[in-house]
Amino acid sequence: MPNLRLLFISFFLLFFWVHSQEDTPIARFRRYLQFNTAHPNPNYADPVSFLLSQANAIGLKSRTLEFVPSKPLLLLTWPGSDPSLPSLLFNSHLDSVPAEPSKWIHPPFSATLTPDGKIYARGAQDDKCIAMQYLEAIRNLKAKGFTPLRTVHISYVPDEEIGGVDGSEKFVQSKEFEDLNVGFVLDEGQASTGDEFRVFYADRSPWGLIIKASGAPGHGSRMYDNGAMENLMKSVEVITKFRESQFDVVKSGEAMNAEVISVNPVYLKAGTPSPTGFVMNMQPSEAEAGFDLRLPPTADPDLIKKRIAQEWAPATRNMTYKLIQKGPIRDYQGRPLMTLTNESNPWWPVFKQAIEAAGGKLSRPEILASTTDTRFMRQRGIPALGFSPMTNTPILLHDHNEFLKDTVYLRGIEVYESVISSLSSFKGESN
Ligand SMILES: *[C@@H]1O[C@H](CO)[C@@H](O)[C@H](O)[C@H]1NC(C)=O
Ligand SMILES: *[C@@H]1O[C@H](CO)[C@@H](O)[C@H](O)[C@H]1NC(C)=O
Ligand SMILES: [Zn+2]
Repeated sequence: MPNLRLLFISFFLLFFWVHSQEDTPIARFRRYLQFNTAHPNPNYADPVSFLLSQANAIGLKSRTLEFVPSKPLLLLTWPGSDPSLPSLLFNSHLDSVPAEPSKWIHPPFSATLTPDGKIYARGAQDDKCIAMQYLEAIRNLKAKGFTPLRTVHISYVPDEEIGGVDGSEKFVQSKEFEDLNVGFVLDEGQASTGDEFRVFYADRSPWGLIIKASGAPGHGSRMYDNGAMENLMKSVEVITKFRESQFDVVKSGEAMNAEVISVNPVYLKAGTPSPTGFVMNMQPSEAEAGFDLRLPPTADPDLIKKRIAQEWAPATRNMTYKLIQKGPIRDYQGRPLMTLTNESNPWWPVFKQAIEAAGGKLSRPEILASTTDTRFMRQRGIPALGFSPMTNTPILLHDHNEFLKDTVYLRGIEVYESVISSLSSFKGESN
């Protein structure tokens, strides 16, 4: 007599196997989301081989570059009919920030699809969606018989979330990159809670500022001028006033958050430690404070440096300072590190019209409050926009329970079909 229970279990397993092998855009997206690419130990090898198999299936050329051992960078290419024209580069990063599984309603690398269409995964918005949408759009365009005039490249880079030093920075400085003759770059953007797609034309440049004050030490009971604490607090007051002046512009609606210079205190260090806390009857001879500064490309870095030297940490007040500049604020020709979003940039109208042709609308171009790999491309003078087609979506990058709706993801593929076909057909002026 056949073992009915065993038979039943076999059918059950077969059912799940068939479903897990399903080959739809959503199934492929979920498979890509299931690789644990979180720092500090991102799995790069498996997602790269997955993407390679996808590229082979679609018929794209591929190359794996490795500027640093175990940090692969995958480059896919769809050759254009006129390879002499500057090419297009669609970039995304392979890695993601960590996730705390206990704070998630579904495991962060399960890519759980809920009945209402939400796909939960670390990286669903940042930025594994675009990574797969680029491929799906090309798959569809190829199926429709479309041939690009310009060559289209897709790059999958490591380490964006930890500064891109071993990823995009080395890539953009390489001979391999030079040879691509890239004319225009699209990279990650952010979700939009409304109906319009967001687009980012610049990043803010992060600076770290440490100011140190010194002054004569003294008994806690004595009133005297120019103690270290007094000197530091005078600076903190001046910096706080500057911060308010910038924040007021945002509060009045004249500028968006990322369009002003932000300066936020991140630490204070002073006092003489004692076994129970701090010595309370002594005024210390040194005091220091740390600030996180973010400069939009429109800010004049020399003016800020002058302000720091003369007002925030003046030597006349026994102050010294250290400025840690992370990343450039000007391109190689000394121009502000931003991509024009008007007719002066020939790619802009083509991009904008492609969005409209797909039935979408762009909101006012923005400066990104944080940084992405685009700064490396912009530094080389290459126009680059940050764009992730997600509308009516809460902004959940780096947050718990990051998710993307299946319908939003699929709509994004259509948007990229329009964007890739328009940009790759663009005959151009001279660029
Ligand atoms: C600077 O430090 C010296 C030495 O501690 C002190 O004598 C002087 O008053 C301080 N000056 C100011 C402006 O803080
Ligand atoms: C585009 O914007 C830049 C920077 O704001 C400006 O200098 C340039 O004149 C603008 N070009 C056009 C065609 O409006
Ligand atoms: Zn990202």
